[in-house]
Amino acid sequence: MNDDVRKYIYGTVVVFLVGLLAWVTVVYVSSCGVTLVCKQGALPVERTPIPTLFPAALPASDSDERTGNEACRVAATDLVAAWVAANSPETEAFEVVDANGVNCEATFADVALLFNEPNIWASGAAACSSCHVADVAASPAQLDMTSYAGVMAGSRRADAESKGTDILGGGSWEKSLLFEFLATSKANVAGHTSAVSPAAYIFAGKPVPESTPTP
Ligand code: HEC
Repeated sequence: MNDDVRKYIYGTVVVFLVGLLAWVTVVYVSSCGVTLVCKQGALPVERTPIPTLFPAALPASDSDERTGNEACRVAATDLVAAWVAANSPETEAFEVVDANGVNCEATFADVALLFNEPNIWASGAAACSSCHVADVAASPAQLDMTSYAGVMAGSRRADAESKGTDILGGGSWEKSLLFEFLATSKANVAGHTSAVSPAAYIFAGKPVPESTPTP
């Protein structure tokens, strides 16, 4: 081999290597810029912000079922009856089965509404407490239906301090004066004819959590 051929071969190799280096440089700089810390090649860490895979165990839709926020539809007399049967608690919740057979939980606040709001027992009906006012001397049958204490103190009271006739039948609803006047709509008393309709329904209380079916 003579020198010319050798030079020729070396020259080709050098040109090839320089060309290769230049090509790599061009590729590197065009994608990374003039820097030694090229991060472009790394996998992007941030994934798409909207997850495309949802966990399979989503909570079941309860659109058709009762939720805890929904009130129970209860016959007004059933609500009072359940309260009396539970020994007429002032603050504790008591259970009542609503018109759809759901076990519900209510408190005296729900019962008090029945005594203190008009149009509950019948449309156009005056509130019980609008006649049976707190002032026993002025109230018909000396019965104060404006408060828990008043209802508990009963009717035919001599004065504000004394107790009268128990209108709750000692806890047995069907024997109570309240039952007589509410459920059997004793009509021979002025004001009661239009005041009471045994078929009145109200929304009161909440379903008892355990009674709702779990999927
Ligand atoms: C328009 C006025 C009026 C309204 C409204 C009214 N009452 Fe009366 N209530 C009376 C009168 C009058 C009597 C009989 C008083 C008498 O006999 O001396 C009476 C008697 C009663 C008695 C009998 C007490 C006893 O010892 O004999 C009960 C119980 C009673 N009412 C409950 C209610 C309830 C519950 C409501 C609401 C659903 C109500 N009342 C609404 C006027 C009213």
